[in-house]
Amino acid sequence: MMIKVRVPATSANIGPGFDTLGMALNIYNMYIFNKAPDGVNFVGIEQKYNNKDNLIYQAIEATWKYLKIESIAIKVEVESEIPISKGLGSSAACIIGGILGAVGMADKSLSNEEILKIAMSIEGHPDNVTPALIGGMTIAICVEKEIEYMKLNIVDQYVFYTFIPKFNISTIEARRILPETVSLKDAVFNVSRASMLIASLMLGKQQFLTLALEDKLHQQYRSQLIDGYDELMEYFKKNHFIGNFISGAGPTVIGIIEKDKFASNLVFRDWTIKKMKIDFEGAKIL
Ligand code: HSE
Repeated sequence: MMIKVRVPATSANIGPGFDTLGMALNIYNMYIFNKAPDGVNFVGIEQKYNNKDNLIYQAIEATWKYLKIESIAIKVEVESEIPISKGLGSSAACIIGGILGAVGMADKSLSNEEILKIAMSIEGHPDNVTPALIGGMTIAICVEKEIEYMKLNIVDQYVFYTFIPKFNISTIEARRILPETVSLKDAVFNVSRASMLIASLMLGKQQFLTLALEDKLHQQYRSQLIDGYDELMEYFKKNHFIGNFISGAGPTVIGIIEKDKFASNLVFRDWTIKKMKIDFEGAKIL
């Protein structure tokens, strides 16, 4: 018995949609599950993650517990394209990959709602796990430990250039830097931009995108952790990007260009620049 699960990268927040909006991107992690003589064994992951603290293992165990079944001896091979601790949803991919593989190895099925509930019990970021599972752009709200979500019917009109620096930022550190409270003015600022963002993406109204990506809840704080951020903002202006946002908790920053425009020779410091598109399918059993 072999189960192969492919899970896309994700970008959470998307500017003003802090902890709520997210989208799946077309780079992937692959998780290949096979029966094994004993235990849960991993192949293809760094030694420091090869233990019971790793999110794939936790997701597998949480799923079997949810299904009320005994542990199954398995081997999990991991092939990763999603960089770790860069704000591109590597943790969410491990969680969703682990859950889907564990369900498959147990020969059971679960609804998306149940899968997301298990995912939330492991790590509380609905804006990553939801698009990782169902693809596209999503609104996800956590209500009493369950996720209420919608997949948005957006116009597929942009490409997303991910600017990935060499350094990492942990989500814990990127959350610690945020203030406990915000002013009513800033809250209204974000409600207005987030509403505009969703409408402009669904209606293909590009003229509102730059304004609609503005944010006052997290980016001004997190940008302090990203060496080169101000210089990158200048670079985006100079190269006519329509908008940009910090991907998830950072440090990756995404710049947006129209699909039919060609951007060549993009170079920024020693950062890795990758052109990505939205993945509309989400996690898949291959
Ligand atoms: N919305 C979360 C944050 C995503 O920005 O902290 C973390 O991956």
